[in-house]
Amino acid sequence: MEREGGATVREDKIGPIGMFDSGVGGISVLKEAVKQLPKERFLFYGDTLHAPYGTKTREEVLFLSEQVVEYLLDRGAKAIVIACNTATSAAAATLREKYSLPIIGMEPALKPASMLHKDGMVLSLATPGTIAGEKYAHLFSLYGEGVVSQPCPGLMEFVERMEMDGPRIREYLERLFSPYREKKVEAIVLGCTHYVFLRKIIASFFPKVPLIDGNEGTVRQLIRRLNEEGLLANEGEGSVELISSGGHEAEAIMRALMQA
Ligand code: DGL
Repeated sequence: MEREGGATVREDKIGPIGMFDSGVGGISVLKEAVKQLPKERFLFYGDTLHAPYGTKTREEVLFLSEQVVEYLLDRGAKAIVIACNTATSAAAATLREKYSLPIIGMEPALKPASMLHKDGMVLSLATPGTIAGEKYAHLFSLYGEGVVSQPCPGLMEFVERMEMDGPRIREYLERLFSPYREKKVEAIVLGCTHYVFLRKIIASFFPKVPLIDGNEGTVRQLIRRLNEEGLLANEGEGSVELISSGGHEAEAIMRALMQA
């Protein structure tokens, strides 16, 4: 497989699966992937130094995503998982044009949530960038009936600090959810991989409402693509390497979230 500049991308079964996010949120996808693919080697890159992606322009997120993918390819990745809804929206199509290895992306789980919609509403939580993107508009045209899209600028930062509960995040969510507290909410879409770590606190505002994320579906798609390309590792031991552009402190948070 040729890359720009003529470098060769390793395409054997030994290479790791490269996965990335703007920060620590993608660890929620990684955990699901490790569970379903225990024999694979995973190389996770959290771009904490440049987080958040969700309030940047599409061009900025595309540029940052390309840098990260170049790094993962230099490390011999056999496939890429964009464990970030925002980066998928901004960069997946361009990356797939540029590189021929499997590139798996994510999207807010409006499709499964639409099955729970009757006469109330589905609350879709995502970054401003995801909600403003063309990909989301397309998804909304298919499964948007009853969906209210709520951008959450500033929410991922709580997860980056491991602040999953406490007065500050409660106050943030109190304000965010106040228009919906008296409404008939039938499902909540966690359309950003960081929000998956906030399940408990979000559920405390909406007891009994199903919270839906796209992690399982993403890993299913990863398995399907690896299978199609004959790239599934079927022997040996799996492993996980965590790297962050934010340095040791961010890496320690990623390790803690792996155990959470
Ligand atoms: N975790 C990312 C997502 O799934 C976004 C967080 C951010 O960088 O704003 O959309």
